[in-house]
Amino acid sequence: MRRHSVIAGTGSALPVRCVTNAELAQRVDTSDEWIVERTGIRQRHIAGQGETTATLAADAARAAIKASGLAPTDIGLIVLATATPDNTFPATATKVQALLGIPDCIAFDVAAVCSGFLYALGVADSMLRVGAARHALVIGAETMSRILDWEDRSTCVLFGDGAGAVVLSASEAGDGRGILATQLHADGRHGPMLYVDGGPSTTQTVGHLRMQGREVFRHAVTNLSAVMGEVLAEAGLEPGDIDWVVPHQANARIIDATARKLGLPAERIVLTVDRHANTSAASVPLALDEAVRDGRIQRGQLVVLEAMGGGFTWGASLVRM
Ligand code: ACO
Repeated sequence: MRRHSVIAGTGSALPVRCVTNAELAQRVDTSDEWIVERTGIRQRHIAGQGETTATLAADAARAAIKASGLAPTDIGLIVLATATPDNTFPATATKVQALLGIPDCIAFDVAAVCSGFLYALGVADSMLRVGAARHALVIGAETMSRILDWEDRSTCVLFGDGAGAVVLSASEAGDGRGILATQLHADGRHGPMLYVDGGPSTTQTVGHLRMQGREVFRHAVTNLSAVMGEVLAEAGLEPGDIDWVVPHQANARIIDATARKLGLPAERIVLTVDRHANTSAASVPLALDEAVRDGRIQRGQLVVLEAMGGGFTWGASLVRM
């Protein structure tokens, strides 16, 4: 059996503070009704003092390592997806490595915004298959609240903070488990539709998130349904074979429209957007961990992970748990 990668454990972490739509309506001209009807979001977690992308990532990583039965020192590779690093450098992955007490491993960040976790999973899977490490931590972690324009009601109501992680282990077992197919895409022509208006090399500031929501919505439904079809075709499977879809949690309407295009029933979709809002790279591993821990996702089941974000970037991964 050829070497492949298996999800050996999942974990997640959310900031302590939870902010409801009603609280946001006291700051900007919006309402709980508008936010719920257009997005499905009811609340989000917002990082407080002392909570950063690295601390949330380390908490999620500790939970994933515990679930895998391994020790932190077994980890040989950390790939961390984020658009909100603690610092421009060093990579947040190295801060997580230090927080976990791992003396030596490979550690770096991946920047693909909301599809960052899918990109990180693809990179870690490739590295495990060529023998770069035996066990990897793949993390999506964000503090989106720190790049939001809190005066802009069209964006500030949509996002939240959090982290999710998986331990990915190399395996030679012939039990059918593991990552079966991954497809990743980018189309940089659409950069201006969803971007941050600052950065070290342009403005020397951190900047704020800007978005043309309606355009993003349209592209998301088209691209996500297409890429899910691609991973199924690569593995020779049909939508009817899928046990669970764990989608990027940007908007309940995007998730519904994408599922409808593929003829997938709502009961097979894991939804957390109502409680987490859009946590960018953290959203897929946060939702995955929730559904693993509450017993919905079982060992041996077929799961599709999918996401789209700024760039545009998008991707999907088909995993036998
Ligand atoms: N509260 C009240 N009214 C608002 C708010 C708000 N928070 N935000 C915008 N509005 C108003 C607008 O000003 C506009 O008013 P007008 O008609 O008087 O001009 C009206 O609501 C409609 O605005 P639209 O932007 O056309 O509303 P739409 O139905 O497209 O919904 C939304 C906006 C929710 C952003 C939607 O376009 C969307 O979800 N897009 C996808 C964006 C997304 O999820 N991005 C996340 C990152 S990318 C990704 O993860 C896939």
